[in-house]
Amino acid sequence: MKISNGVKLLIIANWKCNPITLQKAKRLFNSIKKGIKNLRNSEVVICPPFVYLPYLLKPKPYTLNPKFGAQDCFWGKKGAFTGEISPWMLKELGCQYVILGHSERRQYFNEPDEMINKKIKATLKAGLTPILCVGDKSREAKEDIKELDGQLEKDLKGLKKSSLSKLIVTYEPIWAIGTGNPCGSEEAKLAGQFIKKHFSEKIPILYGGSVDSQNAEDYIKKAGFQGLLIGNASLNPKEFIKIIKTINKD
Ligand code: PGA
Repeated sequence: MKISNGVKLLIIANWKCNPITLQKAKRLFNSIKKGIKNLRNSEVVICPPFVYLPYLLKPKPYTLNPKFGAQDCFWGKKGAFTGEISPWMLKELGCQYVILGHSERRQYFNEPDEMINKKIKATLKAGLTPILCVGDKSREAKEDIKELDGQLEKDLKGLKKSSLSKLIVTYEPIWAIGTGNPCGSEEAKLAGQFIKKHFSEKIPILYGGSVDSQNAEDYIKKAGFQGLLIGNASLNPKEFIKIIKTINKD
């Protein structure tokens, strides 16, 4: 299933803080790589924990499917910032994407929108594509919209039109992430359309939150998203490949 303008669907695998060993990470990666070998209509981006990136990115070239992303990054280039990973380092490694503003970072690490804004700018400057996550805490439609609006306004502050056109935005209702309680496709569609209005350029808008092989197709076909951000199900190669095949059938 190709989206209307022939652009490929984007499938982001967010492994979060998993798996616990490099051996398991390599095994998971190899199974996914094998399963998506002849994929033409989708681009798959694997976002493992930082420490596994150099091992999985070998051997070069890394332009083939799957591509790689990080789950977060620092807003500066280098310096005395203990524990941070700069987007320039990720670029040098061969990464092409960075997830920013994920609700787990906002919630457990108190990341404010102002910080996410700085990270987006640095990521773009380093030549990587930010995958900005925004989401609402409740199911109440009116509140959702207000919350998304506030996040987008602050996260995108000061970005020029040329920068905005390079972004990917993911709608991730917080109550649907890792809960097995996905957002209905109609509800998700409204949020997706709302996000789209913030951009004059056509950018990919994705959905994330309890995606599985049963509901994946609806987010693309019925709700009109250009891809998916997948957490839990991306740790299960069989299920992850099933999701990709479901949305790739013509
Ligand atoms: P989930 O996570 O697929 O486990 O709900 C989605 C996410 O990382 O946002």
